Amino acid sequence: MNNLDQVSGFRNSVFRLAAAAACLVAFSGTLTAIAATPQEIATTRDENFDEIGKNMKILLGAAKAGVVDDSTIAAAAKISELSKALPGWFVKGSGPTDPGVTKTRALAEVWTKPEDFAAKVKAFQEAVAALQPATATKDMAQFGPAIKATADACKGCHDTFKKPKDK
Ligand code: HEC
Repeated sequence: MNNLDQVSGFRNSVFRLAAAAACLVAFSGTLTAIAATPQEIATTRDENFDEIGKNMKILLGAAKAGVVDDSTIAAAAKISELSKALPGWFVKGSGPTDPGVTKTRALAEVWTKPEDFAAKVKAFQEAVAALQPATATKDMAQFGPAIKATADACKGCHDTFKKPKDK
């Protein structure tokens, strides 16, 4: 084998590596392009609500302790972010009566009573919009009522649109 063969052999393997990498990129691009299944949409929704629940726990803990700190403020910011995204989680076709959905606590009413549902979403977003500045004051006299209003808004929607845990 002379030097030239070695160089071209090297070039060849570099080329093959590059081609393999390009294939991988193309493949993962295809994967991302495939739409989520109805169950995947419902599962992601559930995970997002778990995230809301986790942050709400932090806020309720702060209310109980009577102390608002930076982690409380961060939790309120996270809930605010999630509350804005919430309408997008209820994609048509991801409800309990839709084909391919085997596990969801969302009730069909979300999609059969869209105006009522939108009103609950709005009430929640308004409560959260007031919660954030109230939390930032670190003043319990402001934080207390704001967290109560937010919890009421969670319940307000769950009462009509979420299957209770024990059912
Ligand atoms: C506009 C309606 C609405 C609002 C507002 C809302 N939720 Fe929910 N929530 C739902 C629905 C519907 C589900 C079921 C989602 C699924 O399983 O597909 C759900 C699911 C959950 C879950 C998942 C576990 C379970 O019990 O099924 C938690 C935790 C949760 N919500 C907490 C909260 C908290 C805390 C708030 C307020 C800070 C809140 N939610 C506000 C409608 C709402």
